Amino acid sequence: MGRTKVKVLFVCLGNICRSPLAEAVFRAKVIERGLASVFTIDSCGTANYHIGKQPDERTLQNARQNGVDLNHQARQFSVNDFYDFDYIIPMDDSNAQNIARLAPKNSHAEVYLMRGFDDTALNADVPDPYYGGEEGFQNVFEIINRSTEGLLNFILDKQQTPIE
Ligand code: 4NP
Repeated sequence: MGRTKVKVLFVCLGNICRSPLAEAVFRAKVIERGLASVFTIDSCGTANYHIGKQPDERTLQNARQNGVDLNHQARQFSVNDFYDFDYIIPMDDSNAQNIARLAPKNSHAEVYLMRGFDDTALNADVPDPYYGGEEGFQNVFEIINRSTEGLLNFILDKQQTPIE
C-alpha cells in the first residue's frame, strides 16, 4: 500500500441509519490504531430518499451512547464510486445487488458484504432498523462493531507493504 490511501465506502439504502454508523465506527477503529492518515472513509445509500440529510435521530443517539463521533450528510451511490474506492461494503444483499448492476467492467473496487466479516452470522444482512425500535439500533451497532473490526483486520492483512 505504501503511501497511497486505502479508500473504503459503506453502502446501505437510505444512508441515514446503517452505513453512516458503519463509517463512524470504522473510522474510530482506524483512529484508535493510529492509521487515520492512511484511510479515506465514506458512506452512501442506493436510494435517493434522504440526500443531504443528517443521520436518523435514533442513529445519532445510538452513536452518542456508544461513544462514537458521527457526522455525515446523506448522499446517493454513484457509478464513479467504483473508481473512487478500493473497498465497497454493502450492508445487505439487496444493496449489494443494486450496486452490482451498476458495476463498470474496468472497475478494480472490491465489493464485500459487511457481514462477510462477522463470524457470528457469516454473510447475513445487517438488518434495516428504520421501521423498528431502539433495540434494533443497538443490535445494528453490535453487528457493525464486530464486522468493522473484521474488515479492518482483513484490509491490513491484505496490504503488501506494512502500514506505518
Ligand atoms: P438505512 O435505513 O438504509 O440503514 O439508512 C433506511 C433509511 C430509510 C429508509 C429505509 C431504510 N426509508 O425507507 O426511507
